[in-house]
Amino acid sequence: THVVTANCQACRFTDCVTVCPVACFHGDEERLYIDPDVCVDCSACIPACPVGAIKEEFDLSGDEEEWIQINAEKASDLPVIRSKQPPLPTADARRSELGLN
Ligand code: F3S
Repeated sequence: THVVTANCQACRFTDCVTVCPVACFHGDEERLYIDPDVCVDCSACIPACPVGAIKEEFDLSGDEEEWIQINAEKASDLPVIRSKQPPLPTADARRSELGLN
């Protein structure tokens, strides 16, 4: 499956949801999560995210593996996000901080 990792936090650009063919993204006020039971592993979302927050499960570093469970748990509780929303107010600053402008 694919997993939304730490960089989504403070950004929530939601570009990913516009390319997902199966609506596997769920969200709260801070960030998005992928439902691993719905994701078809197409990888379309990886280049769509401006801060590189989405990774394939097998590409995660040891530190990032916690996101597998977090995505699964949160996705099951939160509503599906299907359309682009305004990024968080901190998004552009976070993208600059990551050197991704
Ligand atoms: Fe988050 Fe990137 Fe999507 S910042 S909302 S994973 S486009």
